[in-house]
Amino acid sequence: MSADLPPVPLAQPEIGEREETLVLEVLRSGQLSLGEVGVRFERELAAWLGVADAVSTSSGTTALHLGVRQLGWGPGDEVLTSPFSFVASANCLLYEGARPVFCDVDPVTLNLDPAAAAAAAGERTKGILPVHIFGFPAAMPELEALAAKHGLGILEDACEALGALDSEGRLVGTRGNFATFAYYANKQMTTGEGGTIVPTDAESAARLRSERNQGRAVDMGWLDHDRLGYNYRLSDVAAAIGIAQVEKLDSLLERRAAVAALYEEALAGVEGVATPIAGRGQERRSWFVYTVRLADGVDRDATIARLAERGVASKAYLPCIHLFPHLRELGYREGQFPVAEAAAAHSLALPFFPAMREDQVARVCQELAAALGQGAGTR
Ligand SMILES: Cc1ncc(COP(=O)(O)O)c(C=O)c1O
Repeated sequence: MSADLPPVPLAQPEIGEREETLVLEVLRSGQLSLGEVGVRFERELAAWLGVADAVSTSSGTTALHLGVRQLGWGPGDEVLTSPFSFVASANCLLYEGARPVFCDVDPVTLNLDPAAAAAAAGERTKGILPVHIFGFPAAMPELEALAAKHGLGILEDACEALGALDSEGRLVGTRGNFATFAYYANKQMTTGEGGTIVPTDAESAARLRSERNQGRAVDMGWLDHDRLGYNYRLSDVAAAIGIAQVEKLDSLLERRAAVAALYEEALAGVEGVATPIAGRGQERRSWFVYTVRLADGVDRDATIARLAERGVASKAYLPCIHLFPHLRELGYREGQFPVAEAAAAHSLALPFFPAMREDQVARVCQELAAALGQGAGTR
């Protein structure tokens, strides 16, 4: 019986001997933070991306917050962004008193629709915060044109999209905008907790490094502070894991793509399940989650429960963020963003990680089909 088989988790980080070795070196060095390993991680990630610099932070959320501060968005300012996102992409604006102005998403990419963003741009608009949701690149050339027209800043939330290619074939996060990545354990690569912000120049890099470190410039003493700062540092223990993960990042991304291809094939015969696109033109998704869309009328909660009974994890992923209580307080309501709300109502994340085997994918798909009333589950 499938229920007797080991459960299939939603996500699973890949931590091996290399991570253990590098972490142990840090532990034995006695330099657990602000050491050479942290600097090395930044350099290696920047080299992988092909950018001049990368500033590590304690999380994707803190990277976003520093980005908002860099752009000077604050009280009275409005920033155009997506309601179909993880809540941190709106919260980072609220931290500084700026207002997220949600605009509906494109039905295929589920990313901020440039036409909706253009329609929402007004006098108070100061910026655009596109989210590359589920690893699919946002429409950056179009959004950059909109930003140029109105003189807006751009902060890219690429926390789910390390390794994605945009419509011009460029790696997400390398277009010269501030861009953030995140390394929670379900991401393309992990440091446990952690993040990066890609600076726009040497000056912004220096300010980012100061603000993440309590407002200390590099040449300052521990108790000297020349601006408001935070403790948003990434420890060297986490950075050591990051170095090992960057070393195998190409392989992690390739294997995620291979698992997605297995799903695409296995789900072809399952009715009522639409699969996510891998790419379009030069756009390439960096596979973060594998999220399908269930047909209208399918009871998603019952499907999740039935899968759970059979040892298969799944999740309604993700809810629209404009409907959370603290964003409703700004006046947002159901029905304002029909494309995003329909995506949120029908999307289901299936187990997805680079080491996922073909038989596990087959089992998930068979159980999903059975849960939808098509055929028997696995034995
Ligand atoms: C789109 C998006 N933005 C921001 C974040 C925040 O990253 P973190 O959890 O590292 O703070 C995440 C991570 O879950 C994310 O998916």
